[in-house]
Amino acid sequence: MERTLLIIKPDATERNLIGHIVYRLERAGFRVVNMRMEQLTEVRAREFYAVHEGKPFLDSLVSFMVSGPVVPMELERENAISSLRELIGATNPKDAACGTIRQEIARDIEKNSVHASDSPENAKKEIAFFFE
Ligand code: CMP
Repeated sequence: MERTLLIIKPDATERNLIGHIVYRLERAGFRVVNMRMEQLTEVRAREFYAVHEGKPFLDSLVSFMVSGPVVPMELERENAISSLRELIGATNPKDAACGTIRQEIARDIEKNSVHASDSPENAKKEIAFFFE
């Protein structure tokens, strides 16, 4: 069993898609082990995305991430990290495979509805960021 972190982003909470996303995750065999709603501050959003410091999209990303509540979730499954990345699809919904969450509901490369940890190291850090 492995654990990973998913965040439902403000574009999805705004469209009442929390239940839809949780349903899709549970249907794919993920167990929700921790979940809550949070209004991120600019400081917390910048800290979470510190790895993207210096990228041209960072300021806009931070504004978007504080524009409404987010729902971080700790999820458990076998091969949770890679399976979840596969289920959510590519960052840009235009490139996301058919049947993925982003292909179905994301608006664009920034307002892409969900975030998922991309490695065991980041999963550990990101779970701690929200739940420890
Ligand atoms: P996420 O998987 O949360 O990781 C970084 C986020 O930055 C990404 O999803 C998008 O919401 C946002 N973003 C905006 N533009 C880009 C871009 N050109 N490349 C990567 N991420 C981007």
